[in-house]
Amino acid sequence: MPRTVQQKVDTAALDGIAALVGDSPLLEIHYRIDGQPRRVYAKYDTMNMTGSVKDRMAAHIVRSGYASGELKPGDSIVEASSGNTGISFAAVGRAMGHFIRIYMPDWLSQERVLLMHNFGAEVIPVSKAQGGFTGSIEMAEAYAAENENVFLPRQFDNPANIEAHELTTGPEIERQLAMFDRQADAFVAGVGTGGTVMGVSRYLRRDGRTVRAHPLEPANSPTLSTGHKVGQHRIQGISDEFIPSILKLNELDHVVDAWDGDSILMAQGLCHTLGLAVGISSGANIIGAMRLVEQMGTDATVVTILPDSNKKYLSTALCHAEPPRDDYITPNIKLDHFTAVR
Ligand SMILES: Cc1ncc(COP(=O)(O)O)c(C=O)c1O
Repeated sequence: MPRTVQQKVDTAALDGIAALVGDSPLLEIHYRIDGQPRRVYAKYDTMNMTGSVKDRMAAHIVRSGYASGELKPGDSIVEASSGNTGISFAAVGRAMGHFIRIYMPDWLSQERVLLMHNFGAEVIPVSKAQGGFTGSIEMAEAYAAENENVFLPRQFDNPANIEAHELTTGPEIERQLAMFDRQADAFVAGVGTGGTVMGVSRYLRRDGRTVRAHPLEPANSPTLSTGHKVGQHRIQGISDEFIPSILKLNELDHVVDAWDGDSILMAQGLCHTLGLAVGISSGANIIGAMRLVEQMGTDATVVTILPDSNKKYLSTALCHAEPPRDDYITPNIKLDHFTAVR
């Protein structure tokens, strides 16, 4: 694809993107555990420009990149991604006239690849033998070293990723919880880069406020707890083989985990029972929030995020029967209904 040559930053286009990102609804989800009524709160971040939480980061990194001069009109944007980030940079980047190249492990859902192509990005599949996720990052770095005018967002290392959530997701949660007459006691989110859990917790805990902040990982692949890649899991978008540099575990509370099968069953339940179009990591995050409510007390206000929708998982286990297990939470949960504020 030919490079677009532009001289000036199109601020009207940036504002157009900003109008499509963030300000997602906050849901109050009512359910029963062993017959007892409970509730958790969740940001419905499927309602973003490309349908995922990563649009917040892409929009903010592109805007910050222009502001600092690190990103210039006509540059290529090159990133390693397990999918949603690539889709978000493809959409935001193309809207700003950039060439987009995404390095992505080749075992992630086909919908992700097709969406990136549809948004005009070049996708380079990276096999396990080529290094998988870490190989994707190395290849993006090597491409930037060998080519001119390349902007690397470096989502796993870029503080602007955290800032995106400190400036948007966190304040939205606080404002919207007040509409339910509530204040957050805890926030929990599955860790891909850690941008969401770090940014939201920094905002909610500002000026010494006491709010718990829990990273979440797959029980089948506890990289955060062990410090290295271990096991395998089906919760695409989280636990990418290593601990990202922007994730400061010493600033956070203990790691919460969720089995991938339980997360699939929860995501299916949210979809079948409540009509909420969510992906597998949303199921994991809701399980994390429900487990914290049981630990913290039934009136605790526990908030999480629903990072993306079911549409990228039509070819995955999300759309097949998943066997229940005795150690899952889902057999004891009955989802009742939700209300929402904007
Ligand atoms: C589906 C999904 N869930 C959760 C996350 C994790 O978000 P973060 O990178 O902010 O930790 C991602 C990140 O790519 C994702 O794609």
